[in-house]
Amino acid sequence: MSYFGVDYYPEHWPLSQMEEDLTGIKGLGANMIRIGEFAWHVMEPKEGEFDFSYFDKVIEQAKAYDFKVMFGTPTATFPAWLANKFPSILSKDEYGTVREFGGRRQYCFNSEEYRQYSTRITRELVKHYRNEEAIVVWQVDNEFGHEGSDQCYCDQCKGAFQKFLKEKYNDIQELNERWGTIFWGQTYNDFTEIPAPTPTITTHNPSLKLDWARFRSFSLNSFAHQMTEIVREEKGPHQEITTNVSGGFFDKWFDHEENLRPMDFVSYDNYPVWGGLEKPIPPSEIAMTLDFNRGLKGQNFWIVEELMGAQGHDVIGYLPRPNQAKLWSYQAFAHGCSNMLYFRWRGMTRGAEQFCYGVIDHDNRYGRKYHEVKDVFTEMSKYDQLLESPIEAEIAVLYDYDNIWSWRAQTQSKDFHFNQELMRLYQPFYDLNTKLDVIPADRDFSNYKVVLVPVMQVLNEELATRLKEFTQQGGTVIFSFRAGLKDKDNVINFGQTLPGPVADLTGIRVEEIESLTAEHRLSVKGEHDLSQEESYVNIWRDLIVPEGAETIYRYTDSLYKEYAAVTRNSYGDGEAFYIGGGLDVEGLRPLVKKVVENHNIDYEESPIGVEVYTRVVDEEEYRFIMNHTEEEVSYMNKVLAPYETQIVKK
Ligand code: GLA
Ligand code: ZN
Repeated sequence: MSYFGVDYYPEHWPLSQMEEDLTGIKGLGANMIRIGEFAWHVMEPKEGEFDFSYFDKVIEQAKAYDFKVMFGTPTATFPAWLANKFPSILSKDEYGTVREFGGRRQYCFNSEEYRQYSTRITRELVKHYRNEEAIVVWQVDNEFGHEGSDQCYCDQCKGAFQKFLKEKYNDIQELNERWGTIFWGQTYNDFTEIPAPTPTITTHNPSLKLDWARFRSFSLNSFAHQMTEIVREEKGPHQEITTNVSGGFFDKWFDHEENLRPMDFVSYDNYPVWGGLEKPIPPSEIAMTLDFNRGLKGQNFWIVEELMGAQGHDVIGYLPRPNQAKLWSYQAFAHGCSNMLYFRWRGMTRGAEQFCYGVIDHDNRYGRKYHEVKDVFTEMSKYDQLLESPIEAEIAVLYDYDNIWSWRAQTQSKDFHFNQELMRLYQPFYDLNTKLDVIPADRDFSNYKVVLVPVMQVLNEELATRLKEFTQQGGTVIFSFRAGLKDKDNVINFGQTLPGPVADLTGIRVEEIESLTAEHRLSVKGEHDLSQEESYVNIWRDLIVPEGAETIYRYTDSLYKEYAAVTRNSYGDGEAFYIGGGLDVEGLRPLVKKVVENHNIDYEESPIGVEVYTRVVDEEEYRFIMNHTEEEVSYMNKVLAPYETQIVKK
């Protein structure tokens, strides 16, 4: 049975309001509420005085309405008394400014005091409810690392960073050697001399910056795992553990797969539009975020905050159109969401999130959004089996956080964005309605047919070997630019022509490179049946000399027309493509379609804006046909209203 529900904050309203609220929530067809993730002070109003009586009442009432409960451990927002007792728990930005009490998540992951008090409230809370049959899920903290909370430059963090390095490197000589601190005379005599990468003139050592990113990930994930361990120790056997992943996961300073590893399942907060955005992110990008969350554990996932109303703190923006938030919900179910909670039951009248609108608004009327949620729950409660059914994708997109952080340390092009370069390879496959898994590069990908490797500049021998074996066996690999430039120390490979460890696999040599801006488009000419007549690259270009590979596109500018821009190399029973620049998506389409056809991967060409996602249950096919446009569209003798989704049994 799937859970459908809302995020409910009873402590935001008079107790007398609860009965009406629970009746209203029940009326949606809901069977779960999420509570408590910001209510530390309610449960420990004074240091060491634990009082769960308020939530005891809430849970009693919830049970009367037959609700199950997801309870959040409240360490994302700590009480004022704790911040006043230990100001050192407050994190600092790179300028040394303290993030003052009054916001949220502004704690330092390396504060011993914060870990002690978080441990205690988490243990007392979970212990208190270990036998509570209504509580079936614990959510650990809330959106780790979101809103810049994954970075802190306080002295505790600097000391912990030096300790982290001391444990990683045998001695200071090894660090000096591997970081290349001889450059600019930065040789360290001792780990205690090593700075945190706070602002300096020019920029910090790239290896220091990569290790600092790893240290941030370690700090956050060790805190998350410490709290998760306590929940696991204290919880009842009928209770599971999760945490909610926020959007912008490729812009975060922690490894999400590692973060979720000790959890029972992944939860995601799906906000296709937030804050002052004029319009939502494109449907393909929403789809990618869902495939990323499914890829974290290679299983279906929950959404514990699905957007229904416009959202923002001091600034809000685009209003989801009638049925559009509903459509995003169906898209999430199609891509592997098995249980869904909407954020939030009613918009709050006070506090920082007055403009984070809910299922119902401040006027307490049950309007359009209420009925949209009810429709979704009514419809999806018919598809329990489908929602639990596994998704078998034949195409994988690889990412690696060391590589992402290496790019963030040095973007090389002023308009480079990792997310955008991943989407550049993801988009044409999405447009053919194929299924993609977005997975960490250290995951086994040998069972896929096609592997996409976007801008993998940090690419070690181990990964190169697995990619070669995969291609040898008949797989298709598609690399994009700057592949194989650096090792895991963020050091450029010496004496190797690019693309370094995959030069033989791709059958090319990169002669020279040029960084481009987004506006600086360079035309390329197609000279292969896998190309358009012409296209263009921006952001970056590798000037390629084929050494066995076929040329698919060639540069046209006079001084460089002897160089290839895109190539294809046969390798064993497979093939490896190299996209040597930010190639326009139209230029990629012929190649992508051929690859999909050659591998007999199911695909269909729907009109732009119409997404089709097929799920299989007991050999029965269910097609989610989703109209992401505000126009009426016809497709496969079906007429879809603006933002309508139809689930069609084949
Ligand atoms: C996030 C948080 C919620 C709330 C919403 C507002 O996802 O988890 O607490 O701030 O955003 O949109
Ligand atoms: Zn700190």
